[in-house]
Amino acid sequence: MPTTPTQATTATSHPAQTQDAIELLMDDHRAVEKLFDAFEKAKDDDVEAKSALVRRACEELTVHAMIEEELLYPAAQDVLDESDRPDVEEAYVEHYLVKVLIDKFTTLKAGEPGFDATFKVMREMVQHHIEEEETDLFPKLRKSGADLNALGEKLMQRKEELEAKIPKDAGDNTMRLH
Ligand SMILES: [Fe+2]
Repeated sequence: MPTTPTQATTATSHPAQTQDAIELLMDDHRAVEKLFDAFEKAKDDDVEAKSALVRRACEELTVHAMIEEELLYPAAQDVLDESDRPDVEEAYVEHYLVKVLIDKFTTLKAGEPGFDATFKVMREMVQHHIEEEETDLFPKLRKSGADLNALGEKLMQRKEELEAKIPKDAGDNTMRLH
């Protein structure tokens, strides 16, 4: 969901409308899926569009992975039954693999061999990860009784902080937030 100027300027107070943690993360999922779809529709030789889409997807995925790892997964480890904790461990590993591919795009340029293939594999991995979260982890978290509204606020705040750190025109370094 786009950040309105009002929300951005009142980030320290409680925004008028907040999404709970799961709604926020699912919106992120839909946003990145749109980027994957747009890449698929881009003309084969449109390197400018492809490179912009990959850059945006990497930025979104980096921020998304960071807020999940810093806030959501530790909360999930706390509230889920012990038998469900391996799901969270699996999610960390999947994030790690996506980050390896994100890293490849710091040197791999649109039009070069392997660029489209790397993004395609990234899409498949992210899609699998999204499905697991949405069909398994998120419903379990909903049932757990965790305070998803409070967690949603924390996620939003951290997301805004990280997004503000993305340089507007930093060429190849935009994905490197940490
Ligand atoms: Fe995730």
